[in-house]
Amino acid sequence: MKYFSRLLMLTALLISQLSLPVLAKSPILNDAYTYANYDEVVATHLYLDLDVDFEQKSLSGFAELSLNWLNGSANTVILDTRDLVIHRVLAQTNQGDWQKVNFTLAKRDHVLGSKLTINTKTQVKKLRVYYNSTAKASGLQWLSPEQTAGKQKPFLFSQNQAIHARSWIPIQDTPSVRVTYTARITTDKELLAVMSANNEPDTKRDGDYFFSMPQAIPAYLIAIGVGDLHFKAMSHQTGIYAESNILDAAVAEFDDTQAMIDKAEKMYGKYRWGRYDLLILPPSFPFGGMENPRLSFITPTVIAGDKSLVNLIAHELAHSWSGNLVTNESWRDLWLNEGFTSYVENRIMEAVFGEDRAVMEQALSAQGLNYEIAELAPGDTQLYIDLKGRDPDDAFSGVPYTKGQLFLMYLESKFGRERFDAFVLEYFESHAFKSLGTANFVKYIKANLTDKYPNIVSDKEINEWIYEQGLPSYVPKPTSTAFSTIDEEIAEWLTDGVALSQLPTAKWTLHEWLHFINNLPLDINITRMAALDNEFNLTQSKNAEIAHAWYLLSVRAGYDEVYPAMADYLTAIGRRKLIVPLYKELAQTPQGKAWALKVYQKARPGYHGLAQGTIDGVLKK
Ligand code: BES
Ligand code: ZN
Repeated sequence: MKYFSRLLMLTALLISQLSLPVLAKSPILNDAYTYANYDEVVATHLYLDLDVDFEQKSLSGFAELSLNWLNGSANTVILDTRDLVIHRVLAQTNQGDWQKVNFTLAKRDHVLGSKLTINTKTQVKKLRVYYNSTAKASGLQWLSPEQTAGKQKPFLFSQNQAIHARSWIPIQDTPSVRVTYTARITTDKELLAVMSANNEPDTKRDGDYFFSMPQAIPAYLIAIGVGDLHFKAMSHQTGIYAESNILDAAVAEFDDTQAMIDKAEKMYGKYRWGRYDLLILPPSFPFGGMENPRLSFITPTVIAGDKSLVNLIAHELAHSWSGNLVTNESWRDLWLNEGFTSYVENRIMEAVFGEDRAVMEQALSAQGLNYEIAELAPGDTQLYIDLKGRDPDDAFSGVPYTKGQLFLMYLESKFGRERFDAFVLEYFESHAFKSLGTANFVKYIKANLTDKYPNIVSDKEINEWIYEQGLPSYVPKPTSTAFSTIDEEIAEWLTDGVALSQLPTAKWTLHEWLHFINNLPLDINITRMAALDNEFNLTQSKNAEIAHAWYLLSVRAGYDEVYPAMADYLTAIGRRKLIVPLYKELAQTPQGKAWALKVYQKARPGYHGLAQGTIDGVLKK
């Protein structure tokens, strides 16, 4: 024992004297979802040279990484990969020529993928990994022409967040590392490729495309879309990429985007990314939107015809500050991205569409969160989530979004808008192009808000919001007078004090409709459901959110008339938020589940892998 401890001490002493000076401040490895040794070496620039092969469902070519070594004695670069075929790895010598280096690809971990260890021997400046992605790539969806709006040409899109970049790029796949990137993408001549980079509105369609992203971003924000895309400008800075048959509808729906940017800049500082365009994806896109810088990816299910769902655009735009400029350092800190973004989204909505609408949107989210918290496992309702080794996709919930938003609304109400806005602006400016975690945020808020203006919000309260379960007793309760009126009207109708035809529904907004449907009693009888349907034709609603809310209530209430329309809905749409709750509700009864399995069998091939994974779980025996 003694001998050993002395040996240890001696070794420690030797190491401390021998070790070379650290070249730059190394990040602490706070992200458990990467294999990368980003405390020793970080990629600073990525060049992608890829061919898009729709037949093979494969991207093939190479990724070139420029490296910055942080530890003088390191000579290994560890990258994340998943289901990639690695052909060879080259390193650039100081003389500029490329030489083969050894690498090993570890066995695939079901969450993290396969660790790629590259032994560079010396601290080389650049590495090239020649590879191809496979049809299994979790971050890509390859759509056949039949699955697109135009039905003529195939479509490809990526969805990297949280840890899917590694399924099509060998990279340090952590939000703690940022790269600038350039890319050359080749594909069929008739198809247009776009990326989260400098898309030029007048790009010549020739199948050979170049991109440059001069702002440093984490891997989860690298994105690509390829399809029969066309562009239409909405303003000098904003425009839409979409298949031609939905392009005009999208332009009409989202033409307030420039106003949103202008209002956001007034509150939160300059928009730092140049252009802001939207890419409208096929309906199988598993999310509402994804904040890929300069080019948000958007589900077509928000094109409602009346701008009623454009808070989604405000949300993705808001990420240009919260998330893309100031980034969570690990997926446990997702609330720093999504909570701030939900708050900023709502401030943009208020500035562009007025306070009444903003409050209704707050109230709808808050009610949704309450239902969700009641169903979430104990331990899953704190802002600083405990991922417990799960795939971050499996721990996804509304908590980081709406609890985060309510936390910030609480701070705003306590400190006053003026002081709180100044704090948020300064937070964005001082952390621009950096990543931070919850603990550092807590330090920052203490120094710059709660200690600066003492005796307003205590450390205990901050800790309760961030580290404790559920919602504090003093959580803000957004109240909309329009919603209170609807509550009264529901009560009157249920006691036959008023007929449906007498309700002032002609002037209801989408939000009022949602509040109405969501607040009907769960044990509402079939006669009343049929009366609602006859009067308002809800089963045939073209608004994806209304249809969703109505189908959910119908399944709960046993109103079977909706099933044919719901089957079409579930087959046409692949957005998780709209379909997963329906499958979950259907799975509550044996007949419901049998029906759901039948629909799912038909719908599944059209869904994105992420949605397939979730619903496989919901419907498994
Ligand atoms: N960044 C998210 C989507 C996301 C989060 C993907 C975590 C993967 C992991 C995006 O900004 C988002 O939140 N979309 C929402 C928008 C809604 C809250 C307005 C969506 O897709 O519904
Ligand atoms: Zn978001």
